[in-house]
Amino acid sequence: MPPSISLLYDRIRVEEKELINAAQKRGVDFKAVDAKELHLTITDPGKDRELFGEVALERCVSHFRGLHITAILENMGICVINSHKVASICGNKLLCSMSLAKAGIPTPKTIVAFTKEEAMTAVEEIGYPAVIKPVFGSWGRLIAPLKDRETTQAILEDREEMGNPLYQIYYIQEMVKRPPRDIRTVVVGDLIAASIFRYSAPDDWRTNIARGGHAESFPVSGELREMILKAAEVVGGGVLGVDAMETENGFVIHEVNSTVEFKGAMSASEVDIPGKIIEYALGLAKR
Ligand SMILES: Nc1ncnc2c1ncn2[C@@H]1O[C@H](COP(=O)(O)OP(=O)(O)O)[C@@H](O)[C@H]1O
Ligand SMILES: [Mg+2]
Repeated sequence: MPPSISLLYDRIRVEEKELINAAQKRGVDFKAVDAKELHLTITDPGKDRELFGEVALERCVSHFRGLHITAILENMGICVINSHKVASICGNKLLCSMSLAKAGIPTPKTIVAFTKEEAMTAVEEIGYPAVIKPVFGSWGRLIAPLKDRETTQAILEDREEMGNPLYQIYYIQEMVKRPPRDIRTVVVGDLIAASIFRYSAPDDWRTNIARGGHAESFPVSGELREMILKAAEVVGGGVLGVDAMETENGFVIHEVNSTVEFKGAMSASEVDIPGKIIEYALGLAKR
């Protein structure tokens, strides 16, 4: 029997479209499954197993939807890319920063507090400018520079008023002195598929492609390459987006993304990233 693969999605972005094309081009036994159309009997894990093949690529835009589906699929004995453990670490900036720091990988200094008063103390300890981030989230959403005491107070008050208690996990980070770009590397298993510089749009300080940033090819090498591969390994490995920044004292890795967006890397590097991901999934299915 040829290996079978599924792709779980809740929205078809460029990445999902390309992954589906790459699988079809290879004649793989492949199914794209809309997570929004699923209901799964978690007390009878055998019941829906056939839907997902041997290996599932979890590609939901909603982190929590993807994370919970991953738990259910793993309980059915399906190999999910990425694993529940990896997705939980990478989906939470606090867990991700701790993993990087514990492994001795240079990462920006980060302090976490649980009230706005202690958050203010944390900001003053780090010094201005600092950065506040929600522990969950992507595309740079709700990440704010903290430039002085007054604006910090206002931002912390805003966060305190937000309904979701996760916004009161105050994740405060030093603002890294960097050029107006960062480095996104797509890691597939233990290999680097492609890496790019991401330049911020003229009207934003964040370099996310989703914020209008643009990509340029930048093949990583040497010490940075080793750091990136180690960062992917310490969070548990899989298909990952490792993000690094250049500082006066060398590179830092600020996050590892689990459901990696690679359209910028694909167009700038001309590497067949979706093909590499499908090959990786096939490799795991054949084991
Ligand atoms: N500590 C920092 N210093 C300087 N720039 C930062 C810092 N943290 C984040 N940024 C900028 O904001 C962007 C988004 O931050 P990031 O932590 O990657 O969150 P997200 O998960 O939303 O992408 C980064 O790609 C980078 O351009
Ligand atoms: Mg990011």
